[in-house]
Formats: sequence, structure tokens, C-alpha cells
Amino acid sequence: MKELQEKIKQYGTVLPGNVLKVDAFLNHQVDPELMVKVGQEFAQLFADEGITKVWTVESSGIAPAVMTGLALRVPVIFARKHKSLTLNQNMYTADVYSYTKKTTNRISISKKYVDPSDKILMIDDFLANGQAVEGMLEIADQAGVDVAGAGIVIEKSFQPGAQELKDRGIRVESLARIKSLADGKVTFMED
Ligand code: G4P
Ligand code: NA
Ligand code: NA
Repeated sequence: MKELQEKIKQYGTVLPGNVLKVDAFLNHQVDPELMVKVGQEFAQLFADEGITKVWTVESSGIAPAVMTGLALRVPVIFARKHKSLTLNQNMYTADVYSYTKKTTNRISISKKYVDPSDKILMIDDFLANGQAVEGMLEIADQAGVDVAGAGIVIEKSFQPGAQELKDRGIRVESLARIKSLADGKVTFMED
């Protein structure tokens, strides 16, 4: 997505440890007009899939997920994240390990908002190691719902998440694919 790449070039900064900071339009301040276009793009890509719900994980996935739900005219669920490893029989849960933060969070989705006939589109802001998407897949598996695939705003293609998901047969659509953040410079797959 050309406009997204331009935003990344203009406002993205590279931090030590191969982290791309995009607080200017995605992770802190949110650019609503860009997010609407992101949502429309995902809706178009998955238009023929019969999606009934969009899933994401709080918090940074919510903005693109809501705009996708708006474009598809379906509800959006954001999995809640808890530090404590609480169990609740009304929730589907999965443990998500963050390589970046070296912590495990339990994510949960209430059974109340899951229907066995659902077909899910997973949305997230970043795909790096793929742990958040793996967590959503685990919940989808427990719930017995179909998954159409994952819509990712920014894929770090040099990290293993995207390839691992594709190897498992999961459709992954990423609007920006980053080949490298070496030497503080953003290089896209298309460059
Ligand atoms: P992953 O396995 O889910 O792909 O992510 P990983 O554990 O590698 O990273 C943990 C967190 O850091 C995730 O957010 C992920 O989206 C985010 N992240 C990974 N690489 C980058 C990056 O280069 N730039 C930015 N800005 N974020 C990155 P989170 O903490 O789970 O979610 P949230 O609370 O921010 O929504
Ligand atoms: Na995220
Ligand atoms: Na994040």
C-alpha cells in the first residue's frame, strides 16, 4: 500500500534492536484517514471470504481492526491481555509470549461473542514473531471457528512470523513488508 509506505518513510524511526517506531500514525497518535484506507484495503482483499467477525489483540491492533470491521460491516473483537494467568470458564484463552518484552500475556475472548458459525479475519498492527496471531489461532481452534487469514499493517519480513504462518497454510496479507531495518534504514521488500 503506497500511502502506508510513504507514511513509514516520512514518520517512521528505527530504534536499536530492529524496532520500527511508528507512534506518529499507528501506535500512539493514530491517523484516522490512513486507518480508514487500511481497513478498506483489508476488506477488499478478503471480500470473497464471508467474514463474520474481525479479531485483534489490544491495544495497537484495535484501530486498524475497527476500520476493517467498518468496511466489512461486521463486529470487531479485541482479545484482552492479562498479566495474571487467570482462568475463567466463560473465556477462551491462549498464552502469548512477547520476544520483544520477554513476558507472557494471557489473551482472552469471551465465549459470549463467539458463534460456532463465525469466519474470522485476524488483524494486527505488526507481525514480527507471530505470537499474537498464533494466540488468536489457538483461540479459534478451541472455539471451532473458521479463519480466513491475517491482515497485517506492517510485516517485518526478516522475522519468522509471516513465513511460519504461511507454512501452516494461513493466508497472510501485509500492507507494508519490511525487508530490513539495518543501519537505521527502512528497506521494503519492493525496494
Ligand atoms: P509478535 O510475536 O506478536 O509478532 O510480536 P513480538 O513478540 O515480536 O513483539 C511484541 C510486541 O511488539 C507486539 O506488540 C508487536 O506488535 C510489537 N512489535 C514487534 N516489532 C515491532 C516493531 O518493530 N515496532 C513496533 N512499534 N512494535 C513492534 P504488543 O506489545 O503485543 O501489543 P500492543 O500492546 O503494542 O498492542
Ligand atoms: Na499488536
Ligand atoms: Na504493538
